[in-house]
Amino acid sequence: MILDYGNMMERRIGSGGIKGIDDCADAYKRVTDNFGKGWQEWNELMTDAEIEEIRSFCAPICASAQSVVVLGIGGSALGPLAVANALLHLRHNELSPRVRKVPKFYVEDNIDPERMEALLDVIDPDNTYFTVITKSGETSETLSQFLIVYDLLKKRLGAKAGSHIIAVTTIGKGTLYDIAVKEGFRIFGIGKGVGGRFSVLSPVGLVPLALVGIDIKALVDGARKAEKYCTDGDINKNIALMMAALNVAAYKKGCNINVMMPYADSLKYMSDFYAQLWGESLGKKKDLSGNVVHIGQTPVKSLGVTDQHSQIQLYTEGPFDKTVTFLSVKKFRRSCLIPETNVDGIDFLKGHTLNELIDAECKATAFALKKAGRMNMTLCLDEVTPRSIGELIMIFMFETAYAGAMLNVDAYDQPGVEEGKKATFAMMGRVGYEEKLKEMSFSENEYIIERN
Ligand code: PA5
Repeated sequence: MILDYGNMMERRIGSGGIKGIDDCADAYKRVTDNFGKGWQEWNELMTDAEIEEIRSFCAPICASAQSVVVLGIGGSALGPLAVANALLHLRHNELSPRVRKVPKFYVEDNIDPERMEALLDVIDPDNTYFTVITKSGETSETLSQFLIVYDLLKKRLGAKAGSHIIAVTTIGKGTLYDIAVKEGFRIFGIGKGVGGRFSVLSPVGLVPLALVGIDIKALVDGARKAEKYCTDGDINKNIALMMAALNVAAYKKGCNINVMMPYADSLKYMSDFYAQLWGESLGKKKDLSGNVVHIGQTPVKSLGVTDQHSQIQLYTEGPFDKTVTFLSVKKFRRSCLIPETNVDGIDFLKGHTLNELIDAECKATAFALKKAGRMNMTLCLDEVTPRSIGELIMIFMFETAYAGAMLNVDAYDQPGVEEGKKATFAMMGRVGYEEKLKEMSFSENEYIIERN
């Protein structure tokens, strides 16, 4: 893994850049002192024995099932989605079973009724296994999906329905746990101090990923490797601490927007994963001392080269309010040669590969941004493998934790999400939320335009 942050620096890009890196000793200490404690239990990676327990449970299902479906949302879905997209064939579900060899994979992280029905149109429930993932065990979206699926399974499989459900939740707490015990589902526990968006390397990610044959041991090994350098006290050797320091410095210079732009389709959902991590962890009304600060950098998802033809104009010439992190890949798993041609104007492409072209375009975009005085950095993976993806995830999680400490906010709570949840309960008629429903009543026809 290589971090090239020259284009963040004033010396390289002019006054739009950062002069020098602030002292990060305090943030470093606050994170490393809490290693494995409280909400930093995500630092404690799973042991080989725990990984093997998951792998041996999942292997027979992986060998025989047609499809695996994740029912979950937010931190209970984005990690498995990002890792599976990085490591499975990019057209995984479209491959023939003979070539695919492992089940199809679906992550249902929304409750759009059309999407749910569409899923049920394409899977055969008799040959599908559902991982129901919720840390709280209470999330309405996940539990309503579960109720729909379990009802269907019971109608088709009778007493065997429960063997097609795998619950990943907090042991001894929450509605899903109670149901799972009563119905005899296989349960995998999420550690008490592992929050949703920091949970992909726990059973939240490892169970569904093992069900589709991903090497979860190598994934965790990669995370272990990153953990070593992400806890190095020397910022010049610590990629996560450096990225946090750079992004926080950029934010203090007015860059309210943090763009993550992978130049590889396999890493596309890594931006979604990062966006949740960065946005939900750092976007806070109050700091740790209780002061109202309304703080946080807005994460934006982008994809190279696609968004060169969409957003780059704004990034290069629009307001100086963004910093861009490119994710590049040195060696793609496939190579694609551009054939011979004598057509003027495009003949310079012949004999090159798409690999060279995408690499050139990533570097060219970084150069163009630099020339326009816009801060950007590049994090380069040698190859996309389970090990490098485990490494990348760990860098993102440590970067977020360090940035939380630098901004003096609690990176592990999400009070801003609660109000919407309560309002949903009120509108859906949950007992105890009658007052909330009253609070929500307002004059219905004000400020509405309806045209028929
Ligand atoms: O990161 C988080 O904590 C959230 O995004 C949660 O993962 C999300 O709200 C789902 O919660 P739960 O796992 O309890 O169903």
